[in-house]
Amino acid sequence: MGDQRSMMVIGGQWGDEGKGKVVDLLSRAFPAVVRYNGGHNAGHTVRVGERKFALHLVPSGIIHPETRCYMGAGLVVDPTALLTEIDRLRDEGIEVEERLSLSPRAAILLPTHRALDLAREGRRGESKIGTTGRGIGPAYQDIAQRRCLRAWTLASPAKLKESARRLMEQHNEELVTLYGVEPVELDAAVDEVMAAAQRLAPLIREVGPEIRRHVDGGDSVLFEGAQGVLLDINWGTYPFVTSSSCLPGFAAASCGVGPGYLGPVLGVMKAYATRVGSGPFPTEDFGPDGDGLRDRGAEYGTTTGRPRRCGWFDVVAARHAVETAGIDALALTKIDVLDGLKTLKVCVAYEGPGGELVETIPADAELLAEITPRYVDIPGWEGATEGLVSEEALPEGARAYLKFLEDRLGVPIALVSTGPRREETMARGRSPMARRISEILSEA
Ligand code: GDP
Ligand code: IMO
Ligand code: MG
Repeated sequence: MGDQRSMMVIGGQWGDEGKGKVVDLLSRAFPAVVRYNGGHNAGHTVRVGERKFALHLVPSGIIHPETRCYMGAGLVVDPTALLTEIDRLRDEGIEVEERLSLSPRAAILLPTHRALDLAREGRRGESKIGTTGRGIGPAYQDIAQRRCLRAWTLASPAKLKESARRLMEQHNEELVTLYGVEPVELDAAVDEVMAAAQRLAPLIREVGPEIRRHVDGGDSVLFEGAQGVLLDINWGTYPFVTSSSCLPGFAAASCGVGPGYLGPVLGVMKAYATRVGSGPFPTEDFGPDGDGLRDRGAEYGTTTGRPRRCGWFDVVAARHAVETAGIDALALTKIDVLDGLKTLKVCVAYEGPGGELVETIPADAELLAEITPRYVDIPGWEGATEGLVSEEALPEGARAYLKFLEDRLGVPIALVSTGPRREETMARGRSPMARRISEILSEA
């Protein structure tokens, strides 16, 4: 396998931690970036100077002109959404098609998956998951049910036309008989998929051999996870989760490489916490502090524009993420959003309904909804962290906050982000990950 220096970047909370920024920033040192899970439920905002890019399916390495990007077999891909994104990027001067490969085994997400997602959410009423409405759950369900269309069919028009229509007929039957909603107009839906297929067909290439070729040839590969550990289908706050695995191990399965190809895991977490959609969120703040975080952090979804629920950093949940995902080091983002606060709260333990100590995130989401967080108050800091690029320049209080989190979590904070732009970033400390990040930042 050679002296490979691959790395993984994953979300350590409920998504939107700033993975896009971190992947974009690190990509300059990686000839290849691979996205391995989810679909266009993901939304990453990448800021480069005054320019702003919104990425959903295309890996966040694409802004670097030298980087090759790959989409693994574990993705669910809406062909129209992918094309729209490619076209938007081209309008921004980023050529995508020459540098992007899509696994022939990725699943195709159809217009009827979207309709099913919305119909099911409608049926759940008050107990809805608050999905992005993109059809993600129904598409993953079809993979498990062994009836989904794989991306290779995009290059076989006759087969695609027939099998897309057949599957969408089944979906329509469900829409009408189970949910009592209007069926999707099939001719238009088939036409939509066929039109996109024609342009996407040239991108279909097996991903595993390419990754192996990169790594075996001495190149390092960056594996990019979407969503976050607390939204993982098995280890998140089930059922209020997404429908894919967001953990590092899934990258190997999705790309068709052994786990030895993956490299150390950089978990991205915000300096506070947010969540979109429903589900338990122990440290959610419903008062002015939560509103303040939303305003200062511009916490509105990249994909749906929904206001994000906001609250305090949750050490119990973060430790769960560190342990289950094997996070080696953290990238802590948006510390600048805490500038100016007199006091910060950090949840350090959970208390159950009877006052008992709950050591970790319970498997039962209803139980999680009933816990009371135990907080410690941490003094805020005078002065701003916004835009700072070195650890020494950080206000004393901010340094103490980082040290506090690091001690509680037992992993180093190797990167600190102080603003949305690439350059508003610092490597921190002397961990192996910090040294690597420092090397990458100094290459700029
Ligand atoms: P992702 O889904 O994990 O890539 O995260 P999103 O892009 O959905 O949400 C993160 C948001 O925070 C984006 O709008 C970023 O531009 C912004 N952001 C990232 N890092 C920082 C930071 O350190 N400070 C501030 N103020 N904004 C940041
Ligand atoms: P990135 O990659 C934040 C949430 C939805 C909902 C739940 C299920 O930008 O971090 P789904 O449409 O996946 O069936 O919705 O998961 N969700 C995200 N929240 N960031 C994301 O992606 C998300 N992708 C899905 O809000 O609660
Ligand atoms: Mg996001």
